Amino acid sequence: MDANVDEHIPFEERPDDGRGGKIVPMRLQKFLARAGVASRRASENLMTEGRVTVNGIVVTALGTKVDPLVDKVAVDGRPVTLQDKPVTLMLNKPEGVITTMKAQSDRPIVADLVPVDRYPGLYPIGRLDADTTGLLLFSTNGELGNSLLHPSCHVPKTYLAHLKRPLSVDGAVRLRMGVELEDGPVQPAEVDVVGKYGRLVRITVHEGRYHQVKRMFEAVGNQVERLHRETFGSLSLGNLELGQWRILSQEEVDSLK
Ligand code: URA
Repeated sequence: MDANVDEHIPFEERPDDGRGGKIVPMRLQKFLARAGVASRRASENLMTEGRVTVNGIVVTALGTKVDPLVDKVAVDGRPVTLQDKPVTLMLNKPEGVITTMKAQSDRPIVADLVPVDRYPGLYPIGRLDADTTGLLLFSTNGELGNSLLHPSCHVPKTYLAHLKRPLSVDGAVRLRMGVELEDGPVQPAEVDVVGKYGRLVRITVHEGRYHQVKRMFEAVGNQVERLHRETFGSLSLGNLELGQWRILSQEEVDSLK
């Protein structure tokens, strides 16, 4: 059964889906995932278990399409509707995971760790190197992403860097004054040596250039062995475990703007 997809509503008249597209007919499992019921795979299980109805009729056929503007979908008798509010979340990125939404090899990617089925259009705001861990933001709100990535945006980001050698006094001074990189001078950074061996350094930078922190330490004759992003603007990971994500509250999103 294809529910009411023939009941034609012209594309131009369809409302925006809040993610740069329009609300159009789609497979029932995709609809359930977008509505936040469960992942696409788990939604298929709900269907085959006979727990999903469309216009009051149990639907188990996985190919069934529904029109969110016309059909009434329910799971276990509870109505389900699409969410259209933009979603922004933070992930504690583990080591070895590539910041991309499209796999180019069999290496793990961040798309495997965040709920893309539930929130299509989710996109990372900037990137962390594969070997960098820590706070990575994602949003379905492209405008928010663009404004935070714009060169004029100087949101502070704090990293914990494990260095190959103790940071020299001269190195710390130069980083605090703003070192020169190939692509131009960087803004002064806040630098604190943590612990007594001089190799663990907390650094706050105000731009988001490619390999920025690693290049900054290289510019003062050192090398980053491990890098972890602790904060982005006023946001910090708190007790979010590696590989876990959480949705930001409206206040947290507003604090980024
Ligand atoms: N700076 C780097 O060098 N790498 C990162 O992943 C983030 C900032």
